[in-house]
Amino acid sequence: MAVATCNLAVVLLVVLMATALSTETSMAGPSLVNGFYSSSCPQAEATVRNVTEAIIRKDPTMGAAFMRLFFHDCFVRGCDASILLDPSSSNPSVEKKAIALRGYDAVNTIKSAVEAVCPGTVSCADILAFAARDSAVVSGTFPTFAMPSGRRRDGVVSRFFDVFQGIPSPVMQLKDLVSNFAAKGLNADDLVTLSGAHSFGQAHCSFFNGRLYPTVDPTMNATYAAALRTVCPPPGTDGGGDPVVSNNRVSSDPNALSSRFYDNVLAGKVLFVSDQQLLSSNDTADKVASNAGDPAAWMGRFAAALVKMGGIQVLTGTNGQVRKYCNAINS
Ligand code: HEM
Ligand SMILES: *[C@@H]1O[C@H](CO)[C@@H](O)[C@H](O)[C@H]1NC(C)=O
Ligand SMILES: *[C@@H]1O[C@H](CO)[C@@H](O)[C@H](O)[C@H]1NC(C)=O
Ligand SMILES: *[C@@H]1O[C@H](CO)[C@@H](O)[C@H](O)[C@H]1NC(C)=O
Repeated sequence: MAVATCNLAVVLLVVLMATALSTETSMAGPSLVNGFYSSSCPQAEATVRNVTEAIIRKDPTMGAAFMRLFFHDCFVRGCDASILLDPSSSNPSVEKKAIALRGYDAVNTIKSAVEAVCPGTVSCADILAFAARDSAVVSGTFPTFAMPSGRRRDGVVSRFFDVFQGIPSPVMQLKDLVSNFAAKGLNADDLVTLSGAHSFGQAHCSFFNGRLYPTVDPTMNATYAAALRTVCPPPGTDGGGDPVVSNNRVSSDPNALSSRFYDNVLAGKVLFVSDQQLLSSNDTADKVASNAGDPAAWMGRFAAALVKMGGIQVLTGTNGQVRKYCNAINS
């Protein structure tokens, strides 16, 4: 009973937020609508969902991989699937060479299932957006929510150096995180809400070792830091290896997308400076506390913010192309 009531509240919230958001989304990307493929490829979303679910069932860490790919795609040249392009002789320095991400093969698997039902119809940018939405639903306790589509064109440009301008660094201070997000049309609320994605998935020690050595960052819980130090050796002593830990070491399920992230921030049990920085202003700290106290409300906010992120600088009109393979531009 309590669960049903709670889920209904989330559904209502998601619907309300999606409505409130529609004006903003249309500013970000005039072409995005719910169910863009309902006549051109009615099976598109179900096929993505089906394959995404199967992939996550087989490897529960993959939801986080899809989620992060979508973030990195949208934050560099907009949501245009530029992150997915392999290096080629004409363009050896693509985005994906700048930062290691997981899930490229899995996206190709989803794409080939979609191509099998509707050749040349569904953009890779939309496939990534659907897969990220489905990851939230499968890896969280989210009710399903609409992800607007119609990112009609996949980009043909992918540049290594664009990544360092677009993607925020995990050692950034709050004001820099806020301005990084503002450059994409996202506000401090979106920053706090979307950071909840760090409730699942993995991270390499090199991204937070500076908080463990030579001395422990005083904003980190000492017990938590001591445990991390047993996994992450001091920089320069790991023989070139870079161990991986779960973003959420506190929860019993490190593959669950949930508001546990905010409890972890309040407890000083998050990995990155950028995560902990959310407590450094009253405004963002209040948002952290309210998300920690209300998991259902956070889910509604996260769904709406993910939709908003999915509208960043989408390509329309005659820019780009619908790729046949997500990892290469059409020949
Ligand atoms: C606020 C600024 C952000 C910073 C500085 C940041 C930084 C990072 C870093 C350094 C990692 C570890 C990667 C690795 O070692 O392989 C990571 C992982 C991750 N990030 Fe973020 N991130 C940010 C925002 C976001 C957003 C907005 C999302 C999605 C909505 C997101 C989703 C994820 C996920 C799911 C992982 C785990 C990836 C995996 O399991 O492979 N991050 N992030
Ligand atoms: C989903 O996958 C199952 C098998 O894995 C298949 O039988 C079914 O037709 C698929 N549905 C869609 C909509 O792709
Ligand atoms: C740090 O976490 C441990 C348990 O993991 C807890 O016992 C301790 O009270 C925390 N320290 C602070 C200062 O909150
Ligand atoms: C933040 O909140 C604290 C305590 O509630 C207050 O003393 C402080 O003035 C606030 N800071 C700002 C910048 O509003």
